[in-house]
Parts: sequence; structure tokens; C-alpha cells
Amino acid sequence: MSQPKISEIEVLPPFPEAGLRIYPSDRTAIAVPLKLSLVVPTYNERRNLRQLVERLIQLLDRLIPDDYELIVVDDDSRDRTWELADRLAETYPQLRSIRRCHERGLSTAVIRGWQAARGEILAVIDADLQHPPEVLVNLWAEIDRGADLAVASRHVEGGGVSDWSLTRRFLSRGAQLIGLVLLPGVVGRVSDPMSGFFMVRRDAIAGKPLDPVGYKILIEVLGRGDIRWIGEVGYVFQERNEGESKVTAKQYLEYLQHLLRLRVDLFPLARFLRFGVVGSSGVFVDLAVFYLLRDGLGWGLTRSAVLSAEVAIFNNFLWNDLWTFADLSGRQRGWRKRFKRFLKFNAVCLAGLMLNVAIVNLLFNLLGVNEYIAKLTAIALVTFWNFWINLKLNWRVTDVR
Ligand code: GDD
Ligand code: MN
Repeated sequence: MSQPKISEIEVLPPFPEAGLRIYPSDRTAIAVPLKLSLVVPTYNERRNLRQLVERLIQLLDRLIPDDYELIVVDDDSRDRTWELADRLAETYPQLRSIRRCHERGLSTAVIRGWQAARGEILAVIDADLQHPPEVLVNLWAEIDRGADLAVASRHVEGGGVSDWSLTRRFLSRGAQLIGLVLLPGVVGRVSDPMSGFFMVRRDAIAGKPLDPVGYKILIEVLGRGDIRWIGEVGYVFQERNEGESKVTAKQYLEYLQHLLRLRVDLFPLARFLRFGVVGSSGVFVDLAVFYLLRDGLGWGLTRSAVLSAEVAIFNNFLWNDLWTFADLSGRQRGWRKRFKRFLKFNAVCLAGLMLNVAIVNLLFNLLGVNEYIAKLTAIALVTFWNFWINLKLNWRVTDVR
């Protein structure tokens, strides 16, 4: 078997356990940095590759002459796409080809290509001409304006799909909906999170442990990158002329696995534990104040319960503002803002109290669950509710540009 032109061992670091990392631009081991590295992941694309490469070179020679590279990353295709890529690389110096003989998968192919890349901007385009190369000009314009990420989207003005079957449209939109439920802060940031056609600033993802599964490289970039400014350009997803899509049910399952992995990795566990410690301190404050008012001052039951609860809420707000969410409250200084956060915190706790009572009644009266198990379940669920709503609606800092 002929040796691949650039064997994966020469250009790629070993596949690490804790995710693939891209070098930052100042530490790129490559001598001559470029403006753009466009990765083309291929699997059995021999009948499309030449036309794509020639269209890309014609376009990029005009757009960013002598300052870009194309990197084909082929997974040892049965139709020997890598052999054609090697031959094209001899004709076009802008083209490099990597043949992976021991790894497989679209999203890791893209990241492996970015690991070998020299560009300040990293990009990906499909090899089968379903992503019109001309759209690169608009993507580049977004990056030029300062975007960290420029995404070609089927769901903005000028976007669309050729004639997808209803099933394919339903599956694509359904996948997007599941992503919105599980990862609203990630999948909800772009109109077409399924897009496999985008550009990203190297330093926005450099050093991050990228660990995608399956096809959706964009949600990995959105989930783990430092992406502040996103530009979107519309494009029409074309019909494939040669070869066929490699998407199978396996890719949909891998997509779910990818979402769940990101959900767990991105859940702010340390912050949640701090929130739980503060909540536990509130229980002691509530009981102590209740004891003082009842046994110390002889106050009535309701008055003591309400006041001790409010003192506990104040205690929890103070510690959450100074410790749990300190990094966020530190970006929203001033007594007026702090008092506003305190009022919102009260509202969330009040809603949490009602939710608590509702859950206890549902579990105990309707489902016959033991009252203490019901109470403990309610406390756990309401703690999660209080944490998530306060994080997303109260202490959240939005970088509105
Ligand atoms: N190296 C490598 N390894 N490349 C792969 C693999 C793989 O395992 N699987 C697919 N590819 C390449 C294909 O050769 C093609 O260039 C590109 O990835 C997309 O594969 P398709 O099988 O054509 O995917 P699709 O057309 O159904 O979906 C594409 O477009 C969607 C909308 O933008 C993909 O890019 C999806 O991720 C994307 O959501
Ligand atoms: Mn395709």
C-alpha cells in the first residue's frame, strides 16, 4: 500500500484522552502563519473533489491571494479520495492533504485539520458542493467586520435548502429543537446550529478541549469556544450531484450523545455546589431566627415563620451575591442594581416556595409518596429551580453588542 503523502503521524499530535486542542496563533508550531485555513473533510468524495478544489482556488486566489490554504482530511476513503487529494496537492501548492488511517468521523476530521492548520481563521466546507463556495466571500466579510464566528445559515434571509424531503426537513428541525431544549445557551445562539459551513477565529477556540461526537462540529465550537460576536450569512443548501450523504441514524444518536456530553460538561457544577452550601446555611438561619422570635420573644407562629424565612432569604442573597455569583455581580456594581437583584431573588424564592408546596402535595396526596420523601424531593427540585432561574434571569450578564 503506497504511503500517504502526509501521514497523520507527521502533522497531527497523538489523539489525547482529554479532547483535541488547537494551538493559539502565537504558539503555532508552523513557521509561516496564514490568514485562512479551510478544511475539507472527505469520505468517498473522489467525484466531487477536483471541481470543488478548482472552484475554491479560483475564488480564494481573488479574495486572499497567497494567504490561505486548503486542507483535505480524508478518512482513508474506499474510493481513494486521498490519492486524488495528493495528486491535486502536487498541482496546487495551496492544497495539503491528510489521510487518516486510524481515526474516523466528520467532526474530528475537521479538528484534526485545524490542528495541522496555519491560518488565523479556521473554516470548514463540505466536499460535495452542497455548500456553494461563493458564500465564503460573505463569511470572510463577517470575519473582516470583527466576528469571532461567521456561520452560513439556511434559516436566515437568502437561506434555504434545495428540495429536501419533508422527512429530512422534519429531522433537521427536530434535531435543532432538541438542542434548544437541552442547550438553549449554545444551540439558541445561531439560526442554523446544524450548519457544517462556517469560519471561526483561531484564538476563540485555541487551547479548549474540543471533544465532539458525530457531525455537528459547530455546537462544539459554540459550546466550548470564547465566541462573543457571531455573524450569519444566508445560503441555499444545494442538491448533491455525485456520491451520497453519509448521514445515517447513527449520526442522530451521536448528535444526542454530543448534546448530553456538552450539557454535563457545561453545567456549572462548582457554582451549583456553592449555591447549595448557601441554601443550607439559610436553613440554619431560618430555624435560629424562628426559635428566637417564638421562644425568645413569644411572637405568633405565622409572623415568626414569615420573618425568619425573609431573614434566611436575605442571608442567602448576600452570600450568593458575594460568593456564588461574585464574578457576575462584580460586573453589575452599585446599590440600585444590587437591590434590584435582591427583589428578583425574593420573587424567585417566593415562586420556589409555591413550587415546593405544589410538589409536596402532588407527590403526597396524588401519588401517595411518603411525606418526608416528598418534602426532600421538593427541596432538591426547588434548589435546582432557584439556582437555574437566578443564574439565567438574575445574575446573568449579557454582552449585548
Ligand atoms: N473525513 C471524513 N470522515 N469526512 C466525512 C465523514 C467522515 O467520517 N463523513 C462525512 N464526511 C464528509 C463528506 O465527505 C462531506 O464532505 C461532508 O463531510 C458532509 O458529509 P455528508 O454526508 O454529505 O453530510 P450531509 O450533506 O448529509 O450534511 C452536511 O450538511 C449539513 C448542513 O450543513 C453536513 O455538513 C452536516 O453536518 C450539516 O449539518
Ligand atoms: Mn452533503
